[in-house]
Amino acid sequence: MRLKKIKNAIEDIKSSKYYVEEPALNRAKWHTIFGNDLPIDIEIGMGKGNFIINMAKEYPNTNFIGIEKYDSVMVKAVRKLNTIPELKNLKLILYDARDIENIFKKEIHRIYLNFSDPWPKSKHEKRRLTSSTFLEKYEKIFENRKEIFQKTDNISFFEFSYASLKENGYTIKYITNDLWNDTTIPNIPTEYEEKFVKLGIKINSLHAYKN
Ligand SMILES: C[S@@+](CC[C@H](N)C(=O)[O-])C[C@H]1O[C@@H](n2cnc3c(N)ncnc32)[C@H](O)[C@@H]1O
Repeated sequence: MRLKKIKNAIEDIKSSKYYVEEPALNRAKWHTIFGNDLPIDIEIGMGKGNFIINMAKEYPNTNFIGIEKYDSVMVKAVRKLNTIPELKNLKLILYDARDIENIFKKEIHRIYLNFSDPWPKSKHEKRRLTSSTFLEKYEKIFENRKEIFQKTDNISFFEFSYASLKENGYTIKYITNDLWNDTTIPNIPTEYEEKFVKLGIKINSLHAYKN
């Protein structure tokens, strides 16, 4: 992906109180970092941060960690956070999730995968964040119970994810091909989601669990 370079992006991120610079040093210690035993939920590929910021506001009894691999994207979240009252239950990590087991160990309650890159070519299947390759990494970071919540516009990726989660022992407790038509589920939208909905594109979503 080619991204526009943003002036002072890395400087702004590093000066943010939400940013954790060397996340691997906190492996197995994230509850201490938050200073409580509340569940820790992560979003892999948080983009510009609307979802993770609004989740942290809405659910003060959960800790949230947003993970993003590009500074030019994460800086948008950091700049938004500078304009609102501090959220004590939020941290941000600039990191590539392919090494996620190096930064967490048996301490994550739920993973959110929102509009993750679908990697449509079959030769890139292992890069999909719901491939067996990633699900095996997640096994090492989850506490006993495992929860993965996915939203995507891409039906092929959604079908792939459903099959992969089932193959890896997950039970799908919620599934829809039209999230915005389901008023029974509370939903905090992401930036991509809002764009797709404006274009009339339906949002697929699932909640997967494993004990
Ligand atoms: C399509 S965007 C979706 C952003 C946001 N979740 C949303 O729904 O608006 C996917 C994001 O995931 C990030 N990403 C992709 N692969 C990643 C990885 N392996 N580790 C961390 N971030 C990743 C990309 O940089 C990008 O910002």
